[in-house]
Order: sequence, then C-alpha cells, then structure tokens
Amino acid sequence: SIDISTLTKQTGLTTLDQGFVNTASTKSEITYIDGDEGILRYRGYSIEDVAANATYLEVAWLLIYGELPTPDQLGEFDDKVRHHTLLHEDLKRFFSALPHTAHPMSVLSAAVSALSTYYEDSLDPHDPEKVELSTIRLLAKLPVIAAYAHKKALGQAFLYPDNSLSFVDNFLKLNFGNLAEPYEVNPVLSKALDRLLILHEDHEQNASTSTVRLVGSTEANLFASISAGIQALSGPLHGGANEAVLTMLGKIRDSGESVEKFVERVKAKEDGVRLMGFGHRVYKNFDPRARLVKESADAVLADLGVNDPLLDIAKQLEEVALGDDYFVERKLYPNVDFYTGVIYKAMGFPTRMFTVLFAIGRLPGWIAQWRESNVDPKTKIGRPQQLYVGPDARSWPVDR
Ligand code: ACO
Repeated sequence: SIDISTLTKQTGLTTLDQGFVNTASTKSEITYIDGDEGILRYRGYSIEDVAANATYLEVAWLLIYGELPTPDQLGEFDDKVRHHTLLHEDLKRFFSALPHTAHPMSVLSAAVSALSTYYEDSLDPHDPEKVELSTIRLLAKLPVIAAYAHKKALGQAFLYPDNSLSFVDNFLKLNFGNLAEPYEVNPVLSKALDRLLILHEDHEQNASTSTVRLVGSTEANLFASISAGIQALSGPLHGGANEAVLTMLGKIRDSGESVEKFVERVKAKEDGVRLMGFGHRVYKNFDPRARLVKESADAVLADLGVNDPLLDIAKQLEEVALGDDYFVERKLYPNVDFYTGVIYKAMGFPTRMFTVLFAIGRLPGWIAQWRESNVDPKTKIGRPQQLYVGPDARSWPVDR
C-alpha cells in the first residue's frame, strides 16, 4: 500500500477516488474484513465465534478496549451502563415537541445531539475520564431513546428503564411493555435480538463509521459525532436498506407480481429499482453476517410461531437471483440486511424501527472507532481534496 499523504507532498499529485473505493482513510486495529473470502473478525475473533458465545455488552467491551473482559470487568461495565439508563425528565419532554409521524431515525439523531446539551460535563474529547463517561452514557441511553421514539409513534406512555433486567430485556420491555401489565421476558426474543445486535456491532470504515470518524477529527464531541453517524446510517443504501427490503417484499406480495418478473425489472434497471438487501461494497463472495441471520430467521419465526409469507418471498428472491448471471457476474449476494427485517417484524417492531435497531447494534463500533481516532497522534482533521471542473476565471458582466 502507498501512503498517499507522503506521495502527495513529494509529487504534488492528487488522486481521484469517488466513493473511496480504493483509498484507506485510516489504519485500524478493530475489525478485519476479507471481502473475497467472506471473513469478518472483531479484534481477531471470527464473527461466527463471537455471535455464538458473547453478549452485546461483552462485544462492546471487546471492540472498545481491545480484549475480552474478565467476568469482573464485564460485571462492572454492565452495572455502570444500568446506572446511566435514565433520561433527564426535560429530555423526555423533547419528544413531545416532535410530530408523532416523525421517522424514528430522525428522532434518534436529534435526541443524541441533544445529549450534548444535558451532559456538558462529559464533552471534552481530550479528557479520558470524560470520554469514558460519554461512552457509558451513550450505551445506556441510546436504547431508551430508541424505545421512546417507538412509543411516541404509537402514542403510548414511556416506561422507566427496569435495571433488574439484562440490557436486551430492558430494551424489549421499554418497547413492548405497558403500564397496565407486568412484562414477561421472552428468552427466544432476547437471544435473537442480542445476536442480531452483535452482528451489527462493527464493520470497519463504512459510510456511517467514516462519518463518525470525520466529525470526530474536528474534535467535535462524541455525542455530536454519533448523531451525525446515525443520520449517515439512515440512507437506504446503508442502514436504511433493512427497512427498504421489507417495503420491497411487501410491494411484491401486494402487487401479486411474480418474483421472476420483479427480478427482470431489477436487471433492466427499470426506474433505478434495485434488489434491496443485495450487494455490498466489500463482500464480493458472501456476507458472513447474512448467513448467520438467515440461520436465525427460520429458528426465530418457528419459535415465535410466526408464518410470514414475506420470508417465503425473500427466499424465492434469493434463489432466483443467485441463479442469474446478472447477479453472479456482478458478485451480488444477500447482505446482512436481507433477512433482518423479517426477524424484526416477527418480533413486533414496526418497519420504521429497523434502522434504529441497526444503530443500537452499531453504536459500540462507532464509539470504538471514534476513540481509536481520538487517541491516535497521527489523526488529522479529515479534509478530502477535490478536482475542480467548473468554469475558468471570468469577468463580472459589466451590463448586469
Ligand atoms: N440490485 C441490482 N443491481 C445492483 C445492486 C442491487 N442491489 N447492487 C449493485 N448492483 C449493480 C449496479 O447497478 C452496477 O451494475 P452495472 O455494472 O451494470 O452498472 C453493479 O451492480 C455495481 O454496483 P455499484 O453500485 O457500483 O456497487 P457499490 O459497491 O457502489 O454499491 C451497494 C454497493 C450500495 C451496497 C449496492 O450493492 C446497493 O445499492 N445495494 C442495495 C442496497 C443495500 O442492500 N444496502 C445495504 C448495504 S450493507 C449495509 O449497509 C449494512
């Protein structure tokens, strides 16, 4: 590899790489991906091992601090996160100022941005103790904000976090519990959600993580950087794809169009229609997360007793696409988002919450990447070059 900044200084050359297809923006010790072989590792551990053995907070610790936690370290971390779950009562009123029709991703980003107004005592990116406090606050409060965005859309009362529950059960209760009845933990849901969150925890320099690092490179605070990352994730070509997949499956079901016909329209690039949940910038063989999610989909739906025709449509789409030269030649395979929506739907989440769940999953990765960049003495403010292709200098028209 070539260190472009050195080369640029030596030669005055500028490289043009739209979409950063071939340009590394940083060195990182956190996540390794081999897109040709379908390999994903967090701090050296394969995603298959991590998903089979760890919990969300354990993986968060691994990503942020670099090693697996001891039982004591994990216990202390878990306690700290539980301790910080409450939202300031004024911040709860912030939700009333937003329309109930607001997209929960916009609510999430706005509320995380607002955290920097409530917690000015932990904003300084140069003070490790404050960075630590912001880290815990975010891990604790993002799920609560997410659940309140959900409840707000439903017009239902917000519940207080129940810190006797695990991280995931607390989140599920905040979403699906109500004030009238006691909440019953469903271990099938808890395990499935924990696994899905783990699969999303980091994915090196994707668009939202690069956004978090770029904003962080200006020495903006952690809340501001994460709020920007949430907005970047919301786009349908990134995290918003899980929502777009379900919308696509629903349209196929409602129109009665055959899967084959739909695939023909995708291949003809009719109105720019894409097979959502297919293709990936890095994985050109298969997405190892998609394989794990697909395994979960059948199990979760069976356990919950849900028989969803959308899952059948998804399976048919996969089969037709994988047997078609258009997709094979372009190395387009299902990505992590292809089956997640079907599972989230079976759990009872509305479609508009899907990308919010992705954001909760990705939070530890964003934090780990922000912190890695923050303590790296080589970090510079991110400032891409451009190639100017506009008009040459011209005279201001005298008769204007
Ligand atoms: N359906 C149909 N055709 C596709 C798809 C798709 N999902 N994805 C790529 N292609 C085609 C393109 O039209 C292009 O064809 P061409 O060579 O004839 O012009 C070729 O494959 C290459 O596509 P690019 O857009 O150049 O690939 P890129 O690496 O830039 O894009 C991306 C990757 C954005 C993920 C793309 O595959 C896509 O739009 N997928 C659908 C959205 C999606 O599922 N996003 C989630 C990504 S994973 C995540 O964020 C967690």
